[in-house]
Amino acid sequence: MAKPYYKRGLIELFHDDCINILNSLPENSIDMIFADPPYFLSNGGITCKSGEIVSVNKAEWDKSNGFEKDFDFTLSWIKACRRILKENGTIWVSGTMHNIYQVGYALQKFKFKILNEICWYKPNGPPNLSCRYFAHAHETVLWARKNEKKTHFFNYEAMRDWEDKISPKGKQMRSIWHIPLTPLSEKTNGRHPTQKPLELLKRIILSSTKENELVLDPFNGSGTTGIASIMLNRRYIGIDKEEAFLKTTIKRINSL
Ligand SMILES: C[S@@+](CC[C@H](N)C(=O)[O-])C[C@H]1O[C@@H](n2cnc3c(N)ncnc32)[C@H](O)[C@@H]1O
Repeated sequence: MAKPYYKRGLIELFHDDCINILNSLPENSIDMIFADPPYFLSNGGITCKSGEIVSVNKAEWDKSNGFEKDFDFTLSWIKACRRILKENGTIWVSGTMHNIYQVGYALQKFKFKILNEICWYKPNGPPNLSCRYFAHAHETVLWARKNEKKTHFFNYEAMRDWEDKISPKGKQMRSIWHIPLTPLSEKTNGRHPTQKPLELLKRIILSSTKENELVLDPFNGSGTTGIASIMLNRRYIGIDKEEAFLKTTIKRINSL
């Protein structure tokens, strides 16, 4: 078993390529995986940030290596995740049109059962500067179970109560989630180009795990999944190949 880069309380962080760490973990040991993989969208285009024109490029790890290589990578990390998930465990994967179709195909190829396709709608998303497309205003988050025949956990009551707080009409929580872009108040311990909002991760973790269960994120980034896990009293394993992002994660943990 690999040695963690950082370990404290409910949290373990690993600094390596995720495939190496995933392959070193015991099989059937993880309750839930959230994966925010490279979307392969750093293609040299432009976007709008705080009213300014900026490059759409996020980082080297987000560049496409061509369809076949991107897909081989998607297949390899999803296969490695499947081995370590418990039989009734579930996986969430976020994406945009750049990667989510190959993720869905890979999940089905490996016999996952897709449970929901969440549309994360960003009410304050940027405009489309070219004026040649609809403004991209959402990301997709797929939720899937490892084993077709097992029963997964869904915290129906918690989601109904959450929905009651944001729109008190006695309705079930729907598959379209209105969540603004990550607020600056969540970025005070260092910047990550694709940091997810805590609200998104809290909803995902609360809906699909129980207290003290084990959550894993193979693409830890700034550690949003870990921070939400600590807040909700879940155990957490995070993996990232960039040490700087693990340092940001540790700062975020220390400032809780
Ligand atoms: C989309 S970001 C995740 C952001 C994260 N959800 C957050 O809220 O900060 C993807 C992360 O995966 C890491 N990464 C990319 N390829 C990797 C690999 N093969 N193994 C481990 N980490 C990888 C990158 O360094 C980056 O931090």
